[in-house]
Amino acid sequence: MSSMERRLEGKVAVITGGASGIGEATVKLFVRHGARVIVADVQDEKGKALCADLGSDDVASYVHCDVRLESDVKHAVDTAISLHGKLDIMFNNAGILGSYGSSILGEDDTTAVFERMMGVNVLGPLLGTKHAGRAMVAAGQGGSIIITASLASVVGMLGHPVYSCSKHAVVGLARSAAAELGKHGVRVNCVSPSVVATPMALSGEEKVKALGEVISALKGVMLKAEDIAEAALFLASDESRFVSGHNLMVDGASSVTKIF
Ligand SMILES: NC(=O)c1ccc[n+]([C@@H]2O[C@H](COP(=O)([O-])OP(=O)(O)OC[C@H]3O[C@@H](n4cnc5c(N)ncnc54)[C@H](O)[C@@H]3O)[C@@H](O)[C@H]2O)c1
Repeated sequence: MSSMERRLEGKVAVITGGASGIGEATVKLFVRHGARVIVADVQDEKGKALCADLGSDDVASYVHCDVRLESDVKHAVDTAISLHGKLDIMFNNAGILGSYGSSILGEDDTTAVFERMMGVNVLGPLLGTKHAGRAMVAAGQGGSIIITASLASVVGMLGHPVYSCSKHAVVGLARSAAAELGKHGVRVNCVSPSVVATPMALSGEEKVKALGEVISALKGVMLKAEDIAEAALFLASDESRFVSGHNLMVDGASSVTKIF
């Protein structure tokens, strides 16, 4: 890769949920493109091992961060500032699907399910956007905030009503934040995967593969975590400098086609 291809040279990023799946793939890609990355997650061993693999603390550092806790999120952002003097990119990617809220008519404790899911999937990105926005506005150099939404941000996902609520909600968050932070040069966007074989997709790789093929119009192409990382790279880099308030679907046209 030539220096021209290092699209995040000199930039500093925080990536929540960076220890696994889409977050992990994005940490690796951002580092390859010259960014210094703070990996913020609750899986401490995995996160630390990833950072150790990537080399020195100057390249990737791990912080424990439960995105539901404002003090943790603030600490992750402040760590970027104290280690590297600034924050250019916030990737609010941590999220849960699990078996929570599997049916509207199900037996779950609805309130507990709602609070847990919305805590990680919505409050987390809200706090991340708040604290990253605070740091970016104070520095006066603009910035890029990205939220991982989902195909379930534009269609209702059967069997996942609360997850669908949470992913629709972050699109509204991104739009509102884009309106407020835009006057400070801070862009806010979502990236929306359809189905990726990560640990979150509990049904196992084979089922994910089958589902991915069924719902995508792209024959023979399976969505990978690396594809989402590439989309996040675009939104993080200066190439997308006029893109804000957008929900970038990375779904092989599943949200806009019906294949019989
Ligand atoms: N995998 C898919 O098919 C798919 C599809 C659409 C959207 N998404 C979204 O992609 C994002 C990443 O998911 P993934 O598929 O890589 O799953 P993953 O389970 O591999 O990674 C999620 C990461 O988030 C972390 N996390 C969970 N709760 C946390 C908390 N409270 N604080 C901090 N970190 C926390 C986990 O420890 C894990 O490292 C999520 O927002 C998810 O909703 C995934």
